[in-house]
Amino acid sequence: MTTTLIAALDVDSIEKAFNIVEKLGPTVTWYKVGKQLFTRFGPEIIRGLKSRGKKVFLDMKFHDIPNTVGQAVRSAAAIGADMCNVHASGGPSMLKAAAEAAKETGIIVTAVTVLTSLDETELNAVGINATPAEQVVRLAKLTKECGLNGVVCSALEIPLVKQACGDDFILVVPGIRPAGSAKGDQKRVMTPGEAAKAGAQFIVVGRPIIAADDPAAAAAAVNAELASNA
Ligand code: C5P
Repeated sequence: MTTTLIAALDVDSIEKAFNIVEKLGPTVTWYKVGKQLFTRFGPEIIRGLKSRGKKVFLDMKFHDIPNTVGQAVRSAAAIGADMCNVHASGGPSMLKAAAEAAKETGIIVTAVTVLTSLDETELNAVGINATPAEQVVRLAKLTKECGLNGVVCSALEIPLVKQACGDDFILVVPGIRPAGSAKGDQKRVMTPGEAAKAGAQFIVVGRPIIAADDPAAAAAAVNAELASNA
């Protein structure tokens, strides 16, 4: 299986974003646009990426009533996003509405199971009496049953989700650190090669590429590591 790099465009201006895209050139095809950039610059950033021949993962983690989420997924597809995501905890009706919009438009929709910032105490505080791992598996299975394409999960959850949902289910994995790079605020990390071996279809890498002295070289090194572990 091949693992594809998605570079996270976690910057605060459109100029910085396109400067990174220019620097990375053909080395990176997929970009993740998140709440910071999209809330401020909106579809312009997506149009700019598409006009440069790039693929876009719009990371807005939709969570709302089914009709609103279905229409938000259609809107993401309409502005050119190739992938977007929702919160699996929005429930079966919401997930099915998202899946229907995905089938209609062709956009890939994945679901966030449990945010990695939530531990068991935080889950208990919102009324969920399960460990994060139990909840991840429950929500990944629900996501699959409702017809979505896959989940966003941490590297350490890959085996659990694979076991529960099979090999065709897409896993988008952040928290990736090439050997020797700074962890930043990420605590539980995997190298690109380890994530590829574990079976991630996509890895999301931000700071190790966009904050590198030579972003293109950093991205090329990640791609080489993915290729040698395919
Ligand atoms: O810079 P870094 O490689 O840590 O960036 C990872 C990206 O993936 C960020 O945009 C971050 O918000 C996102 N992400 C994450 N962990 C999750 C979900 C998303 O790091 N569990």
